[in-house]
Amino acid sequence: MKYKEFYNKSIDNPEEFWEEQAQKLDWFKEPSTILSKNKSGHYQWFEDGKLNMSYLCIDKHIEDGLGAKNAIIYDSPVTNTKEIITYNKLYKEVGWLAGGLRDLGLKKGDTAIIYMPMIPQAIYAMLACARIGVIHSVVFGGFAPSELAIRIDDCKPKIIITASSGIEIDRIIPYKPFVDEAIRLAKNKPKNVILFQRHLGADAPSMPYDIDYLELKKKSEIIDAVPVEATHPLYILYTSGTTGKPKGIIRDTGGYATALKFSMKYVYGVEPGEVFWAASDVGWVVGHSYIAYGPLLNQNTTIIFEGKPIRTPNASTFWRIIDEHNVSVMFTAPTAIRAIKKEDPEGELMKGFEMPKLKYQFLAGERCDVATLNWTEKMLKIPVIDHWWQTESGWPMLANMVGVEIVPVKPGSTTFPVCGYNIQILTEEGNVAPPDVEGYVTVKLPLPPGNLMGIWGNTKRFQAGYFDRFKGYYFSGDGGYVDDDGYVFITGRVDDVINVAGHRLSTADMEEIVSSHSSIAECAVIGINNDLKGQIPLALVVTKSNNKIAESVIQDEIVQEVRRIIGPVASLKQVLIVKRLPKTRSGKILRKLLRNIADDINYNIPSTIDDVAIVKEIEEIFIAHRIKNQ
Ligand code: COA
Ligand code: AMP
Repeated sequence: MKYKEFYNKSIDNPEEFWEEQAQKLDWFKEPSTILSKNKSGHYQWFEDGKLNMSYLCIDKHIEDGLGAKNAIIYDSPVTNTKEIITYNKLYKEVGWLAGGLRDLGLKKGDTAIIYMPMIPQAIYAMLACARIGVIHSVVFGGFAPSELAIRIDDCKPKIIITASSGIEIDRIIPYKPFVDEAIRLAKNKPKNVILFQRHLGADAPSMPYDIDYLELKKKSEIIDAVPVEATHPLYILYTSGTTGKPKGIIRDTGGYATALKFSMKYVYGVEPGEVFWAASDVGWVVGHSYIAYGPLLNQNTTIIFEGKPIRTPNASTFWRIIDEHNVSVMFTAPTAIRAIKKEDPEGELMKGFEMPKLKYQFLAGERCDVATLNWTEKMLKIPVIDHWWQTESGWPMLANMVGVEIVPVKPGSTTFPVCGYNIQILTEEGNVAPPDVEGYVTVKLPLPPGNLMGIWGNTKRFQAGYFDRFKGYYFSGDGGYVDDDGYVFITGRVDDVINVAGHRLSTADMEEIVSSHSSIAECAVIGINNDLKGQIPLALVVTKSNNKIAESVIQDEIVQEVRRIIGPVASLKQVLIVKRLPKTRSGKILRKLLRNIADDINYNIPSTIDDVAIVKEIEEIFIAHRIKNQ
């Protein structure tokens, strides 16, 4: 079937379409209600179905006689380790850990935080939670203890599962000390910390709440998967919003499993048994959907890569892995490709690697510039697919659906809506924007299966953040337009969320930290274009009139404070001291104007500005600091 026909079917009759897709899973109880509304009036999928994600990702394949097939390949250039985990081994590892969690008193509906580097135990932990209906929340390792503490207080986990340490290229990241510090900061203290000891250094003193991962496993027995309702939350994943407080996106089980299984075949074009590699981190949505659950559901081999595109040991690592592990489909962020391209522009380091199995290279997580897309196509000589989605959706919303029909790529566009997504570009007034006119990217309800079910503990924010702006539509927070041929172009966030090296961060969060510095009167943090990371944050600060501290000291203290509170991943490296900030007469900082000046985008000075002279001054400061070219 061709794309258009398939897509139209999904929009014209979503219930029939998704019922058919859901039947491809082994449910403990097949759903009879396909689409309904929950108590708060939001759509939900497969309400009365029962299933278990861990069973579908492991036991099902063993029952099908595929237990000896590879489930996971762990490739860690930073520790010089490679390990193959078959589905049989995965069954034991996950079953034991699930047994251990049960022995610790965890039960369906409890929450657990997983704070781990890219090691197989991170996936075992996710699947072990899913096996007994415990709702996991994986926190990215680049976040500092105070960010971890915020998440602990929000989702109140009974336990935290962690490892002693991780490695960033050649630097030890002390995970366990960070967990201890986060627990100290948090109001809600988890009962236990399960610690996987890696013996890499940075060992922390043992705490009364510690439980050794291997000891726990040794004492426990493998337990069966527990059937859960389709609407039972599989996980909470925190992401940045427009306020300083991260929002815990809740994912269901049945809709998500249906959507992921569908996407493996139709979006990514990957068949069971093939090797699928998403070079991301389990702490992000890509890691949840396409390192852990998607490939395992689809009986693919997934790769856990503990390394970087460059410097582990060089810019050939991606090609080595594709060759060595026979990767068929790969997914990474454009920033990773830009890093490789910068180190090895002619692809010299590719020589000697064979990649005959590689069918498609997928890119997402941030806008993909045309030069990066073209370079990747030139190097790999296969279709390179830029596709668009978010933590909230859990799976692609716009893509070239290669498993249905490959349509010609238009550089700069993420192609067409994926089945189930009735994407509409709306104007400020809520009307459908004509072709080529930029507007707000929305999805007409209902959203297809797999999308967010809510925000943990905050129904109001869920409703207000996504559904209030345009009645009957989900608002993505992105801007974009559709051309005459129906290709969709995403132009970027229309709110205070920025994307730094594919990592989603909130400028409001950074502003809270910057403005709490004792010398600062007011500040604005904006995301500005960057050749490597796509965007980076820039802080503009106005010091208090009685300030006595040297400017360079203030700048350094702010950089360190953001790093300490949010984590190194925030990548705030530049703080500029300015006399004033451009504002409207009502006192609102004109952040968009600042962004446009920095990014050299033509701008009009709004008529509401209270002080026109400041625009020229800021422009000069940006030129002096090479933020803007002359
Ligand atoms: N644990 C601890 N620290 C981490 C971390 C983790 N898991 N991930 C990143 N950090 C730290 C880095 O060490 C760095 O610290 P530094 O400022 O002390 O050097 C900081 O956070 C910023 O990291 P990053 O944004 O990754 O920049 P980088 O300069 O180290 O590397 C790239 C640049 C392009 C190589 C890297 O960003 C990359 O591989 N990007 C791909 C991103 C990706 O896959 N995103 C997933 C979305 S699909
Ligand atoms: P995250 O929730 O971390 O996956 O980040 C989602 C945001 O990243 C989206 O709202 C977009 O702003 C951006 N994004 C993701 N993929 C793309 C893409 N292919 N093109 C442009 N922006 C993207």
